[in-house]
Amino acid sequence: MREQKPQSGSDFILAYEDSADRVPVLMIHGFPLNNTMWDEQVAGLGHMTRMITPDLRGHGETEATDVSPYTMEMMATDCMNLLDFVGHKGPVVVAGLSMGGYIAFEICRRFPERVSGLILAATKASADTEEAKANRKESARVALAEGVRPVVDGLLPKLLAPGTYDEHPDLVADLEEMMLAVSAEGVAGAQLAMSQRPDSTGDLQGLQIPTLVVHGTEDQLIPVSEAKAMAEGIPGAKLALIEGAGHMVNMEQPVAFNEAVQEFLDSFYEE
Ligand code: MLT
Repeated sequence: MREQKPQSGSDFILAYEDSADRVPVLMIHGFPLNNTMWDEQVAGLGHMTRMITPDLRGHGETEATDVSPYTMEMMATDCMNLLDFVGHKGPVVVAGLSMGGYIAFEICRRFPERVSGLILAATKASADTEEAKANRKESARVALAEGVRPVVDGLLPKLLAPGTYDEHPDLVADLEEMMLAVSAEGVAGAQLAMSQRPDSTGDLQGLQIPTLVVHGTEDQLIPVSEAKAMAEGIPGAKLALIEGAGHMVNMEQPVAFNEAVQEFLDSFYEE
C-alpha cells in the first residue's frame, strides 16, 4: 500500500495501490510452444506480478524470420527489446522453462543489469552433446522438408510425466495444438539455436541474484540431476522438486508450481 497527498496543499493522505508496483516477471516459454503455456501462472500469480510473456520468433503469434539459423543471442535480444517496448527499463525476474531457461542464461550473460532474479524451470546449464546436436539438425531438416507434425509426434509423449499423459488427455490436446501451430521455420530456427548454445555451467557461481530452480521429478527430457547440479552451483539458489510432474511442470502441477514461485517472489516484497 502506498500513501500520498493527492495534491500539494491538500490536508489528507490518500492510500492507493498501483499494479506497477508488482514484481515484473518475464516468462519465456519452452520449445516448440507459446506463451499460453503460462496461462495458469498468469491466472494464479497475476495479483503479485506484472507478467510479460512473449511468443518467441516463429512461435505462437510471432512471425517467423528466415532460418539462418536463430541464435540464443537473437532470442535474448528480442526479449530485451520487448521490455523496452512495453516501457520496462529496470530489471525483471526472468523465468524460463527449458529452452526459455537457456535464453535466460543468455540474458544473464549479455544483459545482467536487466535481471533481478531467476526462475529456472525444467532446464539445465549444460550444452548439447554431439549426438544431441546432430538430432536437432535432423529435426530442423525434417520440419522444413515435411512440416512440424513428425517433430511434434516424436516430442509430445516425452513432454509429460507418463501419469499425466494417461490421465489428462485435455492437457495432451492443448500441448499438441500449441506445438502444431508453431511454424516450420520456428521449429528449425529454435532447434539450431539450441544446438549452438554455450555451456552455462561456468556462469552459475557468478549468478549473484535470487534464484529458484523448479523441476518435475518425472521429467523425461531433462533429468532431475541436472536441476540439482544447477541449484548447487548457483549461490543461495532454492530448489523446488515437484513430485510426479514431468517436463511441463508448470502446466502439469500448476498449484504446486505457483506455490513455489509465490514463496520465491514473496522475498522480493520483504526487501
Ligand atoms: C524445451 O522444452 O524447451 C525443449 O525440450 C528443450 C530442449 O530441446 O532442450
